[in-house]
Amino acid sequence: MQRIGILTSGGDSPGMNAAIRAVVRKAIYHGLEVIGIKRGFNGFIEGDMEPMRLGSVADIIHRGGTILHTARSEQFKTPAGRAKAWENVERFGLEGLVVIGGDGSFTGAGIFHQEYGLPVAAIPGTIDNDISGTDYSIGFDTAVNTAVDAINKIRDTATSHERTFIVEVMGRDTGFIAVAAGLAGGAESILIPEYPYSIEEVCHKLCKGYRRGKLHSIIVVAEGAGSGLEIGRQIKEHTGFDTKVTILGHLQRGGTPTAFDRILASQLGARAVELLMQGATCKMVGMTAGKIVETDLDRVLGQKKTVDLDVYRLASILAI
Ligand code: F6P
Repeated sequence: MQRIGILTSGGDSPGMNAAIRAVVRKAIYHGLEVIGIKRGFNGFIEGDMEPMRLGSVADIIHRGGTILHTARSEQFKTPAGRAKAWENVERFGLEGLVVIGGDGSFTGAGIFHQEYGLPVAAIPGTIDNDISGTDYSIGFDTAVNTAVDAINKIRDTATSHERTFIVEVMGRDTGFIAVAAGLAGGAESILIPEYPYSIEEVCHKLCKGYRRGKLHSIIVVAEGAGSGLEIGRQIKEHTGFDTKVTILGHLQRGGTPTAFDRILASQLGARAVELLMQGATCKMVGMTAGKIVETDLDRVLGQKKTVDLDVYRLASILAI
């Protein structure tokens, strides 16, 4: 193997740059050439690709975002789009591809591998942490810390004004960020898509807390569990409490990656290169129980990862 491509795809996540750095440096260390593909699969289709050198990844380990830029490519979902990408594989002489992204990106990479046989090493990079085959995806830890930092600040003003706050965090389909940030931030209630809830129940818990002297409350809502604004409106209507809503939104996707995410990204990036060099065909690298592991990509895509409901219940017990 002489030359590999690398791209980032889907929603960006803090630590993607550290992963790019690891892939490029590890590959060059072993004498491989690396072609950086811009704007995810869109750049793959358009041939927006250029060689990367040691200096291309200097001074990026601490930066959020992705120097390769990213996109959610509609064109790559079509056979015609993938055929154009294959032309660029041949034009640039790629013998393997590293894809950093989430499940949507991995689905595209998997189909491309099936159709054209290009070896793929996938690296999980999404703040949502909803990829099976790994305990953590790159960016999750940073996003949780960002959310906890916000909750801490909101708690200050919630206390002063004796208010109820709804904090909406990201997680279109899963409640990983909500559960982790809610537990670490001491939230009174956490609402996630995986666990049914009723507003009456949430209000009942709030009122119970206020009856025994609580003066403020924080409810963390994963966006997939409902709109924070709507939940806030309903709680105010049911309880009459002074209720405010903060939507953290894309704030959670940026910022300097935590040390954990940088270390994870460095390890996964290096392992992805090793896998391609060893002739792996279509695998994802991940970390389970502290060890770097690899899993067939179709297995990763065939399993849905959901939050640990024991941790979710623990957060509820501790917020009694
Ligand atoms: O996939 C990660 C994610 O951050 C989701 O939690 C969120 O719903 C979505 O991306 C937002 O995507 P976009 O930036 O395209 O609006």
